[in-house]
Amino acid sequence: MSACSPRAGGRSTTDSSGLSRPLSRRRSVGEGAASAPARSADRGLAQPVTLLTGASGYVGGRVLRELERSGRPVRCLTRRPEALRGRMPAHTEIVTGDVLDRSSLTNALRGVDKACYLVHSMGRGSDFEELDRRAARTFGIAASEAGVAQIVYLGGLGDASHLSPHLASRQQVGELLRESGVPTVELRASIVIGAGSASFETVRSLVERLPVIVAPRWTETLAQPVSIDEVVAALVAALSLAAPLDVIWEIGGTECVTYAELMREYARQRGLRRGQVRAPFLTPTVARLLLPLLDPAHGRIAAAMVDGLRNETVVRRRPDLEILPPPTCGVSAAMAQALAAEDREFAQRRWCEANAAERPDRFGGLVFGRRMVVSRLVRVGSPPHEAFRPIERIGGDNGWYSASWFWSLRGCLDRVRGGRGLRRGRRDPDRLRVGDAIDFWRVERVEPGRLLRLAAEMKMPGRLWLQFEVATGSRTTTVCQTTIFDPAGYVGRAYWYVLYPVHRWVFGRMLRGISRAAASGRTRPTRKTFVSEREIYYTM
Ligand SMILES: NC(=O)c1ccc[n+]([C@@H]2O[C@H](COP(=O)([O-])OP(=O)(O)OC[C@H]3O[C@@H](n4cnc5c(N)ncnc54)[C@H](OP(=O)(O)O)[C@@H]3O)[C@@H](O)[C@H]2O)c1
Repeated sequence: MSACSPRAGGRSTTDSSGLSRPLSRRRSVGEGAASAPARSADRGLAQPVTLLTGASGYVGGRVLRELERSGRPVRCLTRRPEALRGRMPAHTEIVTGDVLDRSSLTNALRGVDKACYLVHSMGRGSDFEELDRRAARTFGIAASEAGVAQIVYLGGLGDASHLSPHLASRQQVGELLRESGVPTVELRASIVIGAGSASFETVRSLVERLPVIVAPRWTETLAQPVSIDEVVAALVAALSLAAPLDVIWEIGGTECVTYAELMREYARQRGLRRGQVRAPFLTPTVARLLLPLLDPAHGRIAAAMVDGLRNETVVRRRPDLEILPPPTCGVSAAMAQALAAEDREFAQRRWCEANAAERPDRFGGLVFGRRMVVSRLVRVGSPPHEAFRPIERIGGDNGWYSASWFWSLRGCLDRVRGGRGLRRGRRDPDRLRVGDAIDFWRVERVEPGRLLRLAAEMKMPGRLWLQFEVATGSRTTTVCQTTIFDPAGYVGRAYWYVLYPVHRWVFGRMLRGISRAAASGRTRPTRKTFVSEREIYYTM
C-alpha cells in the first residue's frame, strides 16, 4: 500500500477551485442563500428542513444518524417507510416518495432548504443508467421549483475519459443535478470502507468465501478507499455550508491501493490465510455472473460496479481544506475501524427488542453481514429476576442445562486442540461480573435480571457468542437465547452448517432446561415445568 499523494504524483493537484462550476446559468449564490429560508418562512415553518434521500441505504443511514445528532430537522424520503419506522427518533419525518415520481417530490420538498441525494438504481438491472438519469432530472427540477438552496450528492471518482457505464452514470447524475440550477456539491469517492457498504462487502465476500484471492488483471487497478466516517463527515460539512456552493469535491483516504492489496489487507486483519492466484480468464463479464452467486445481498450492485474496476479511482484535486478537513485515515485503519464498529454494533444489540418479524425456520439461522444469528424464545410464568437466576448460574458445577455429555466432549476436544476445556469452572456459583471465565466462555456483558452475553473462548474456526435476554410481557416473562456465529472464512461456514443440527438440539435443550429451572424456582435443571418454545428470526 502506498501513501496517495506520491502515487498520484504529478497528476494530482491541490487546486481547490479547479472543479468549481460557474453559477452563470443558475441562481447566484447570494440569491439562493437568501431566498430559500425566506420561502420557508412564508410557509410559516419555524426552521428549514434538510431532506435526506436514500436514508434506508448504507451511506444515507449513517448520514441520518449524524444529522439527528446535530439536532436539525430532517425529513427522509423513501419508497419503503416500513424500513425506517421504529428506528427513528420522533422528530424525524418520514415521507413516502420516489425520486422518479415528480408528484411525490412536491410534498417531500416543501420547506426544504438543503437536500442530500444518496440514491442509485444499480441493483435494478441493465437499465440503471436510464433510471438514474430520469431520477436525477426529476429530482433536480422538483428541487429547483421548491426553492431548495443546496443539493449535496455523493457520486464516484474517476477520470472523465473512458469511464465504465457505472462511473459515467454516477458523474452524469451530478451534472444533471447541477443542470437543474440548484447549487450542487458533488462529492466523488472511491470504495467506501465500512460494514454494509456494497463495495466493501464485495471485497469481504471474495475473501471470506473463496479459498484463494483470485486476482485477474483488473484487480491491479488503483483505488483510493475512504472510511465511511470521513464520507459522512464530508457530506454533513457540505450540508452545513453557510452559503450555497456549486462544486465538485474529490475525497479519498490517505493511501492508494489496488483491489488485490485491499483483499490481502482484509484477509490479514481477519486472520485468514489466503494465497493469490492470477486469473486472466476471469474477465469482468464472467465476474458479473459470479458475484451475485457469491454475495446474494450485494452481488447485483457489485456486478454493476465491476466494469468500473478498470478505471483508477484516485483523487486528482483535493477539495478546499478550509471547508473540508483533510483525510487522516489509511486503508488499514479504516478497515480496522469498520470491523470494530461492526463488533460494537452486534455487542450492543438486544435481539428480543429488535424489530422482530417471525420467519420460517432457516437452516443455519439468519445471515447479518457475515454473521449467522439464531434466536430462540420461551415464555415462563415466573417474574424476570427468577427467570434470570438459572441464567446467571450457568456453567461450572451448575452445568449447562442440556446434554452434559456434549459439553464434556466439547471440553475434551478443546483441550486436545490446545484450548482451555471445561476445567476453568466459575469464580462464584451464583454471581457473575464482566470478565469472569465460565468454563470455555467469558462474560462480556451482564445486566442483572435482564441480559447475559458470553463470548466463546473454545477453539473453533470463527467467533461465537451466546446471549440471554429476559423481558417482561403482560402476563409472562420471555427468555430469549441468541447464538451469534462469526465464521472465519469458508472453513468456518462449513463448520457452522455441518454442526448446525447438533447445535440446534443442544442450545434448544439448554433453553428448555433454563425455562424449567426458572418456572420451578430451582437453579438446577428439572423436567417438571417446561412451558413453551418456538424459534424466532429477526430482520434488521
Ligand atoms: N457504498 C459505496 O462504496 C459508495 C462509494 C462511492 C459512492 N457511493 C455513492 O453513495 C450513494 C449512496 O450509496 P449507498 O452505498 O448508500 O447505496 P445503497 O445502500 O444501495 O442505498 C441506495 C438508496 O437509494 C434509494 N433509492 C433507490 N432508488 C430510489 C428511488 N427511485 N426513489 C427513492 N429512493 C431510491 C434506496 O431506497 P429504497 O429503500 O427505497 O430502496 C436506498 O436507500 C450513491 O450515489 C453511490 O453512488 C457509494
